[in-house]
Amino acid sequence: MSKPYAELMPIYPLLAQQFLDDYGVYQGRCLDIGTGHGYLGIEIAKITELEMYFLDINPEALKIAEANAREAELANPAYFLPVNVEEMPFADNTADLIVSRGSLWFWENQAKGLEEIYRVLKPGGVAVVGGGLGRYIPETMRKRLLAGRKKWLAERGEKRPGEKELHSLLEQAGISSYRLVADVPGEAGRWIEIKKT
Ligand SMILES: C[S@@+](CC[C@H](N)C(=O)[O-])C[C@H]1O[C@@H](n2cnc3c(N)ncnc32)[C@H](O)[C@@H]1O
Repeated sequence: MSKPYAELMPIYPLLAQQFLDDYGVYQGRCLDIGTGHGYLGIEIAKITELEMYFLDINPEALKIAEANAREAELANPAYFLPVNVEEMPFADNTADLIVSRGSLWFWENQAKGLEEIYRVLKPGGVAVVGGGLGRYIPETMRKRLLAGRKKWLAERGEKRPGEKELHSLLEQAGISSYRLVADVPGEAGRWIEIKKT
């Protein structure tokens, strides 16, 4: 398994549990957007009866996600679709839970992607989009992973959007029913939680 996935593996079941504890969506349709190798969606599937849609713009990543899901012997219906978040092949108001971790920064038109997420989200449903390690990981592990992450981003001259940029993206997307959520209270929110009423 390649870096950074190897060191991130413990976060996926914890993040899945956190999202289920927070949102309580166990049935219906779940989209994991920018699923990569499928780890978050697979962990969500294991503890729910959700019908899972693993979506990624990169068909090669999806092949790995599919192999990983097969190995996990999921009982859930699962679909693996090469999809650009900016143009999703789903009808309006059809997803109960949408998760997307570590993908937003790579979308060409981020506001359009968020608009699409809002369009396909069911009233009463919830979408959680952004990045981070979640609230449930031990503090020692958070510190270690964040230090490595900071170095990795600095080496590449990359930076992730702050709260101001996220608010501006949501405004561009015309979404007002959202909040920014931080992994650790007092830190900048890196997750966008969207609820459609
Ligand atoms: C850093 S990986 C994160 C993978 C996974 N969500 C995780 O947390 O392990 C980002 C993923 O987003 C996908 N991606 C980038 N742009 C996308 C787009 N416009 N629509 C859908 N997926 C996209 C990439 O192909 C990549 O697999």
